[in-house]
Amino acid sequence: MQPYVPGEQPQGGKFIKLNTNENPYPPSPKVIAAIQEAAVARLERYPDPLGTAFRIRAAEVLGVEPDWILCGNGSDDILTIVTRAFVGSGEKLRLPYPSYILYRTLAQLQGAAWEEVHFNADFSLDTAFSEMHERLKLVFLPNPNSPSGTVIAPEVIAAFADQLDCPLLVDEAYGDFAEFNCIELVKQNPRIMVSRTLSKSYGLAGLRFGFLVAQPEMIQMLRKVKDSYNCDAISLAGATAAIDDQAWLLSNRAKIIATRESMAERLRALGFEVTDSHANFVWCTMRDRPVQPLYESLKRDKVLVRYMNYAGWGDGLRISVGTDDQADACIELLKSYMS
Ligand SMILES: Cc1ncc(COP(=O)(O)O)c(C=O)c1O
Repeated sequence: MQPYVPGEQPQGGKFIKLNTNENPYPPSPKVIAAIQEAAVARLERYPDPLGTAFRIRAAEVLGVEPDWILCGNGSDDILTIVTRAFVGSGEKLRLPYPSYILYRTLAQLQGAAWEEVHFNADFSLDTAFSEMHERLKLVFLPNPNSPSGTVIAPEVIAAFADQLDCPLLVDEAYGDFAEFNCIELVKQNPRIMVSRTLSKSYGLAGLRFGFLVAQPEMIQMLRKVKDSYNCDAISLAGATAAIDDQAWLLSNRAKIIATRESMAERLRALGFEVTDSHANFVWCTMRDRPVQPLYESLKRDKVLVRYMNYAGWGDGLRISVGTDDQADACIELLKSYMS
């Protein structure tokens, strides 16, 4: 099988890094303090296998009970646990296309098949997405989607889930940047699950922490599949402090959304087609000019963005929202190549 290849993480050289949708702002100082305390006091013991302190705090923030939450070593771990639990050899996983490339790797690792349902041109999804067939065991829906940043409304997702008789996981890795989310749907339908990450909105991609929200019976089942100590003491301490500091999250979110909107406007003025993003990145395509050379020129000038080429769909640049200065640098370079 082909391995999943994550975005480049250059370990040397001074890059402006706008290629893997990290947060340009650091995490809350309270996170650093909690990590330092855990490093001094908690490393000789195994961590809490269920992440109880995190679940209690997250439950208050989300308006659910702690037994509705499963902690993961990044949300990729959550996606792995759910795929392992539901999709066996010879069975099928459904995902929209183009979307997060990791999903198909997870199916392959299970010896399972995957079925890609193409988005419509406006990034809506039609009823093919909710058609049931015997071997279909799990459906993934990233919302907001990557690379497009577009969203499907919760009522449409609820209607899809009603048609399906297998679980539907709404991957809300970018959910904190959108105006709505699907947590309420989890309360209404035991087959709907929502995954979240602290990598993007909380500025903690380096820590590795994500979680799942699902009904308690589902969480109980999934606990059987996860590694006992899938989250270490450092990440549990940092994640608990992070979810506790909602003021920090909201202030960074506001800055990122403001920069995103100005980036989209300026990129459109340069001639890019830019979808309406509800995430912390923008998806830029061009009809009459290849964009790969622009990616290469940016890289040469030490600005990393993500060039994506989806077979049967097309290519584009996915540019993460940085600070205003980083966005300015990237857009000024693009302007200089195109003039
Ligand atoms: C749609 C989507 N889901 C999940 C993830 C995984 O996030 P993490 O494992 O850092 O929590 C990503 C990361 O880029 C993503 O784009």
